[in-house]
Amino acid sequence: MRKVITYGTYDLLHYGHVKLLERAKALGDYLIVGLSTDEFNWNEKNKKCYFSYKERKSLLEALRYVDLVIPENSWEQKISDVKEFKVDTFVIGDDWEGKFDFLKEYCEVVYLPRTPEISTTQIKRDLGKDK
Ligand code: CTP
Repeated sequence: MRKVITYGTYDLLHYGHVKLLERAKALGDYLIVGLSTDEFNWNEKNKKCYFSYKERKSLLEALRYVDLVIPENSWEQKISDVKEFKVDTFVIGDDWEGKFDFLKEYCEVVYLPRTPEISTTQIKRDLGKDK
């Protein structure tokens, strides 16, 4: 069984997220999502989530592409996650192109093109407008 892992915040789940997860799952048989915790988002990514970790996790668990959601608490955990879960492929959107090449020593690394014109930041901006 080929195992795939990806990481992210996945706040205000949108079709760009779903398409990324669909393509990630298609690279193997079992998809793990390392979901950034609220503390990690705030302290390391400077992001304040609309939905809590628990809410974001339950939304991801409802998707047919996602087999397991684990917490992402630090930038450094990727190598140990890859080893612990015997991951074959690490995948993430190409906004991170090149950033995780150090994982190539441990597994295959794939950067997928982002879906254009949608992001959590954009949704927040649009909803912040009156009309
Ligand atoms: N992603 C994607 N296409 C988009 C938006 C996100 O493929 N239009 C991917 C990202 O590249 C990442 C995953 O979805 O692999 C989770 O992204 P995340 O940063 O949580 O979502 P964004 O919508 O990019 O959020 P933000 O605007 O806060 O950066």
